Amino acid sequence: MRPFILAPSIIASDFTRLGDEIAACESAGADWIHVDVMDGHFVPTITVGPLFVEACRRATRLPLDVHLMVTNPDQHLEAFARAGADRLTVHVETCPNLIQTIEKIKSLGCKAGVTLNPPTPASALAERAVLPIVDLVLVMSVNPGYSGQKFMPEMIGKVEEIRNKLNALRSQAFLQVDGGMAVETLPLMYNAGANVFVAGNFAFKHPMGVGEGIRLLRGCVPA
Ligand code: DX5
Ligand code: ZN
Repeated sequence: MRPFILAPSIIASDFTRLGDEIAACESAGADWIHVDVMDGHFVPTITVGPLFVEACRRATRLPLDVHLMVTNPDQHLEAFARAGADRLTVHVETCPNLIQTIEKIKSLGCKAGVTLNPPTPASALAERAVLPIVDLVLVMSVNPGYSGQKFMPEMIGKVEEIRNKLNALRSQAFLQVDGGMAVETLPLMYNAGANVFVAGNFAFKHPMGVGEGIRLLRGCVPA
């Protein structure tokens, strides 16, 4: 089995117990903490901003993987880096000068990721010439906005296509999937070539707690 990274999506947690929820993720073997930033403009919902990232930073040493679903990510990169983000991922749909944005993220000392909404084709990455310079590509497997949506199986082919492109470039960039991950869907994306999995609802809403949710996800790919 190829190793893979689990990144629980902290917006699905109980914010009154943020530190405990993060500690439970850590002890269950989560690798990164994924923070979904939504601005009520690029996506319909509003979630959290740099102050929240800063609170997560004080609660853990795990890498903070910040997914920026905002209309003007360029305006906010510094604030998130200062708040303690380790990784910043931006949407191709929101960045008119994508290469510049990626370079800016790196100059702030963060790893740079790029992501695509379900309707945006994988070819958008080639057109913008970013694959050789990114640390991570995120394929959205739901339309972003809410935790707990249904996985879109049409995105399996997109993961395969991007996996082939990364391999052709001999790129070590992570290939991440976000949306609808559960024990039935994670193996489909794993087999398609993804190696980082974000999980909100499945992890945090498990009746036996987030630790059990994470353990089940860890075990759902046959050894
Ligand atoms: C999509 C967000 C996701 C979401 C994942 O709107 O980017 O990270 O919170 O949640 P689940 O795993 O519940 O689909
Ligand atoms: Zn996300």
